[in-house]
Amino acid sequence: MDIRIIKFNTMGDKRGALIAVEENSQIPFNIKRVYYIFDTKKNVIRGKHAHRNLSQVLVCLNGSCRVLVNDGFNKEEYLLDQPDKGLYIGNNIWREMYNFTDSCILMVLASEFYNPDDYIRDYEQFLHMVAQNNDIYTTLNN
Ligand code: TYD
Repeated sequence: MDIRIIKFNTMGDKRGALIAVEENSQIPFNIKRVYYIFDTKKNVIRGKHAHRNLSQVLVCLNGSCRVLVNDGFNKEEYLLDQPDKGLYIGNNIWREMYNFTDSCILMVLASEFYNPDDYIRDYEQFLHMVAQNNDIYTTLNN
């Protein structure tokens, strides 16, 4: 699965802490867009989609939330609860974010500008697409 945790270096001194991230360094792509999710209401599940061509890094700047990632074959769950922990998500991964604490601020760094056409919002369509990609891969490698 094209998923990994990225640990950021915290520069701390007696005044407190600071984290700096740069594109193509701590963040493995050019950052074209930043958005953040906050004030999420109780029992809300956000996301519930995949992207065809979009890399993202999710960082919980305050509070915590959980992220379920699913490549159509395997599912993994991550807890984002530290500002020095980034979750990288590659293409064609279904994601759901939930269990937001009241104070949660989830920042997302994205490799592309907002494009509603890049979203796969239908789960059955997502499963169909990854199965098709897998068939093509198997054919090319046998
Ligand atoms: P949505 O994709 O539904 O958020 P999530 O997947 O986290 O539940 O986005 C909510 C609204 O914000 C929707 O109207 C589209 C808009 N939006 C933008 O205009 N730009 C963006 O970069 C994003 C992520 C969303």
